[in-house]
Amino acid sequence: MDRQAYIDHLLDHFQHPRSKHRMEDADIQLGGGNPGCGDLITIYLKVGDDDRITDISFEGEGCTISQAGGSILAEMAKGMSLDEVKELGLPTMREEMGEDIVKSRVRCATLALGTLQAAVDQFRSDRERARAGLPPVDRSSFQV
Ligand code: FES
Repeated sequence: MDRQAYIDHLLDHFQHPRSKHRMEDADIQLGGGNPGCGDLITIYLKVGDDDRITDISFEGEGCTISQAGGSILAEMAKGMSLDEVKELGLPTMREEMGEDIVKSRVRCATLALGTLQAAVDQFRSDRERARAGLPPVDRSSFQV
């Protein structure tokens, strides 16, 4: 894709976001923010017994790139294993958004990815605690 095609791709996701809604019965919900600008993303996941993401949605407010990132990842991550999600990184975002955009706006380009990967970590941590008979960590006070 050339630069204009990447911009069109981002605008399409921003203007017609995929899976942008709250999920009431999510297995994990996690908010993330970019402190530099205040932009926000919340990721919702449902995870199957085979450790694959069976459903994903997001909500958020912020710049075109960060919110398009939420939509792109919501589309991409459905059906992925938790390990596959953890292997995503800057190369993934470069493929989806283009080298120039990721280079100049790296925090915007990675807000949704960082939040998604943190949600996977928290899901695993909660599951380990449940298996050990411990109560889930109350994160209500750190949600954004
Ligand atoms: Fe805030 Fe892009 S300007 S995430």
